[in-house]
Amino acid sequence: MSDAHDGPGGETAGTAVAQLDDHQAQAPAVAVVRADRIENPGFPPERLRVTDLDPKKEKQAERTISLLFFLSIIGSVLAVAAYILFPIEEGDFGTIRINNMLLGVGITLGLLGIGIGAVHWSKALMHGHEEVEERHLTRGSDASRERAVEIFSEANKESGFTRRSLMRNTMIGALIATPIPAIALFRDLAPAEDPVALLKHTMWEAGVRLTRDPSGTPIKASDVTIGSAFHVIPEGLAELESHRLEEKAKAAVLLMRLPVDELNEREDRASWSYDGIVAYSKICTHVGCPVALYEQQTHHLLCPCHQSQFDVANHCEVIFGPAARPLPQLPIAVDDEGYLIAQSDFTEPVGPSFWERAL
Ligand code: FES
Repeated sequence: MSDAHDGPGGETAGTAVAQLDDHQAQAPAVAVVRADRIENPGFPPERLRVTDLDPKKEKQAERTISLLFFLSIIGSVLAVAAYILFPIEEGDFGTIRINNMLLGVGITLGLLGIGIGAVHWSKALMHGHEEVEERHLTRGSDASRERAVEIFSEANKESGFTRRSLMRNTMIGALIATPIPAIALFRDLAPAEDPVALLKHTMWEAGVRLTRDPSGTPIKASDVTIGSAFHVIPEGLAELESHRLEEKAKAAVLLMRLPVDELNEREDRASWSYDGIVAYSKICTHVGCPVALYEQQTHHLLCPCHQSQFDVANHCEVIFGPAARPLPQLPIAVDDEGYLIAQSDFTEPVGPSFWERAL
């Protein structure tokens, strides 16, 4: 068996390799160095600015920059003053317009003052010559570190950061004042009332009727047949003038009827159901999606967001998924006319965990 194969020109691969070796043996061992085709043009000579040549112009630029920083401070103060003096009143679009306009003007002035002042400082007063720095190791040598310190002090000298005290102080003042409007605005993200109290209570209280979502018609115990499930809201929700959605998001309930012998109730909650009818919060204890799917045969509730499953027959304990707690149960009863009513609010906060939640 031969180790050489026919090449495209009829000669063998072994012959081609031999010719290549001959050629390499004859080639002179000299490196070819070509001159750079593009010459380094270098930097153009530094052009002195008017502020480099005329001390009066330099002083004028310094005053202009200080004025810009001062305007920035005024803008930030104006934004805070506008937030306090022109509050937004619910339903009054005029107050929204004036509040937003003044806040916008103040914050714009605050940011523009700092930005333009800093750019003007660097363009008019800091030196404009080019610097070349050779590449070096990540950690510089002691000599280069010393040089870095020198550069900092040179920059300090050139920019006049310590010498031009008025300009420096107004800039520091502007930098401190600029974020203050943001603090005031972030406060608006929190509700006016105590958020923890809001999370712990819902619209349910003793005697409030359970009504259909969204029609608001009350539900009689006799309407709830075995296997049926109702989406429930508290009576009076539709009449709320404000925060209707927030209240609904906390108070939404699922109502189901199971055969009494299939319901394993906790002893302390034996009186919370009515003839096999039970009511549980619809808000998933994982991250708060509505638990909307009821499987009649198994009595399981499924949250479609991350597939947590709750067992209605066993006080809605978690049987699958990331939820950590059972759905809170709403204690129910029946009034004189046969309508389902709440016995009280939920006895624990509904929905996902939060810092101050005890359970
Ligand atoms: S919100 Fe229900 S499982 Fe995640």
